[in-house]
Amino acid sequence: MTRVKTGLTKLDSILSGGLPKNSIVLLSGGPGTGKTLMALKFLLEGAKKNEKCCYITLSEDKDELLKACGSVESLKNVRKYVNKNLAIEYIPMGQSNVTIKRFIDIIASYPDVDRIVIDNVNKLLMFSENSKAYRAYLMELMNTLKKSQASLLLCETAENDGLDSGGDEAFECDGVIQLVFLDLEEKPMRSLIVHKMRYTNFDPKLPHEMRINDKEIKLTETKVI
Ligand SMILES: Nc1ncnc2c1ncn2[C@@H]1O[C@H](COP(=O)(O)OP(=O)(O)OP(=O)(O)O)[C@@H](O)[C@H]1O
Ligand SMILES: [Mg+2]
Repeated sequence: MTRVKTGLTKLDSILSGGLPKNSIVLLSGGPGTGKTLMALKFLLEGAKKNEKCCYITLSEDKDELLKACGSVESLKNVRKYVNKNLAIEYIPMGQSNVTIKRFIDIIASYPDVDRIVIDNVNKLLMFSENSKAYRAYLMELMNTLKKSQASLLLCETAENDGLDSGGDEAFECDGVIQLVFLDLEEKPMRSLIVHKMRYTNFDPKLPHEMRINDKEIKLTETKVI
């Protein structure tokens, strides 16, 4: 099976080489766990290989995202690809007149994007008429995303609690990766846990330490509890 590299070398090795091609992966976690930075790293990995990449943000605007990249050396290159093969599209649902239907149409109109990030699905749920409508929108959106090499749907969860927004994204998506702070040592450990990855043989639910510092964002140790 063709694999899509995530930008995190250790995560690729855990997942037999990367995300399965054409997969849609839920990246969920509490506030400040690293969802946005990890998603930017994922797009940078594609951008470097000349793939067409798109970050669709429903919360932070383009300048805020670029500012976040500025805090980690290995993400500074994101700026170099913006307006070339890496697009950052800011679609503020409540402020603009964009309905969810329109939002899905906009995404469907993008020509052959290789990697897509949507940050975040909670905003889509918030602007859906009800949970049944949201589930239908989600499935329509996922049908469109299937054409890409790989997509990340970011999802805010309560701190260290739950895998999705309550909208059943974890069931619908091909993979579920959770970022959490684990209280294992003298200080909380930023961790990445793979809960689900279709077509992939891996050890589920093992926490891998994720480091974010001035230099880089990377996976380091694996903890067996
Ligand atoms: N150079 C750095 N060194 C250490 N930590 C950093 C550095 N740059 C950013 N961080 C931290 O990385 C964290 C992750 O940020 P990120 O925006 O990716 O989280 P998030 O999960 O998207 O949060 P939110 O739910 O608020 O959108 C932030 O809490 C920030 O403090
Ligand atoms: Mg974020």
